[in-house]
Amino acid sequence: MASVSVRRVNKRFGATAVLRDIDLEVADGEFVVLVGPSGCGKSTLLNCIAGLEAIDSGEVWIGGRRVDTIPPKDRDIAMVFQAYALYPNMTVRENIVFGLEMRGLPAAAQAAALQRVATLLQIGALLDRKPAQLSGGQRQRVAMGRAMVREPAVFLFDEPLSNLDAKLRVQMRAELKALHQRLRQTVLYVTHDQVEAMTLADRIVVMNEGRIEQAGAPTMLYDRPDNVFVAGFIGSPAMNFIAGRARAEPGGGWSLVASDGAAFPLPRGLALAVGQAITLGVRPEHLALASESPVRLKVDIVEPNGDETHLYGLVGQDLVGVRLHRRTAIAPGESVPLAWPLDRLHAFDSASGRRVASVE
Ligand SMILES: Nc1ncnc2c1ncn2[C@@H]1O[C@H](COP(=O)(O)OP(=O)(O)O)[C@@H](O)[C@H]1O
Ligand SMILES: [Mg+2]
Repeated sequence: MASVSVRRVNKRFGATAVLRDIDLEVADGEFVVLVGPSGCGKSTLLNCIAGLEAIDSGEVWIGGRRVDTIPPKDRDIAMVFQAYALYPNMTVRENIVFGLEMRGLPAAAQAAALQRVATLLQIGALLDRKPAQLSGGQRQRVAMGRAMVREPAVFLFDEPLSNLDAKLRVQMRAELKALHQRLRQTVLYVTHDQVEAMTLADRIVVMNEGRIEQAGAPTMLYDRPDNVFVAGFIGSPAMNFIAGRARAEPGGGWSLVASDGAAFPLPRGLALAVGQAITLGVRPEHLALASESPVRLKVDIVEPNGDETHLYGLVGQDLVGVRLHRRTAIAPGESVPLAWPLDRLHAFDSASGRRVASVE
């Protein structure tokens, strides 16, 4: 296995800058998930590392060796795509060993390698079938087998689960994670699904419009997003945002005053200026009902969901979701007081989108 290092990489397609000054490190044995909305440049970055696209400037290193000047086949990577592209007229066995055969590996070594991945991926019973005789999940496993059989230095995955139905996707996600915990390969995994990113990653890299917005452990991105984009992208249901201006309170501390005049207490220790336009973020799961509170939710929608209930409605003029970890008899039309989680609030500067710094 090996580390991957992407240094100040830029890539344009015609007039469009698709990758802008990308710096990315994947440590040996690390599972890094690259996540971002469709079109932000995830596949392009992966293709640049694999050598399927040329970079305009910057460097790509794999295992301490600079590779951006050498062809894909010499980069010692294996790639698994969303479209598995198995050879339809070959059996599973033939599909998996095809690459080894092309490299002239002796038959005994081929058989041993096949045996190893068939056991790992539990596809031993499928080896004589053709791809058409497999389910989506089985095909996906075979595609992984084909990548793993070569024991490459780095695995690159481009949305490998997005063709599967929801249930299978969750199952394969768990299998991938278990596999990585056992084998500790170096993995760079692309997805637009933040749940997949949160559950799989040692470290998440959030991309937006060709740039890296933030990189860090999943809990770090969840607890302390650097900006409004990451705050809104990581977490499901998404974080609520309330816009307003900062007001200094007589007793010290700050409030956010929304456009309708409603005031929301802010945590202490924020580096704010009077009148500064700010965006307050609070996650649905950090809101709860209170008996008394300055903040009220005018409930529009009540969604029972087993042991949870999701409420949606207006706080002042902003649409807010609340995730209650219990059932409730609350009905649409009611106005309910919300417990205000001062220690779980996020404040962002509205102009820059950046997290407001702390004074301490
Ligand atoms: N071969 C290409 N020629 C021109 N534009 C491209 C090409 N490939 C991708 N793009 C553009 O580059 C941007 C990033 O694409 P991509 O890396 O596929 O995004 P993602 O994988 O994050 O959805 C998109 O705007 C896309 O339209
Ligand atoms: Mg893509």
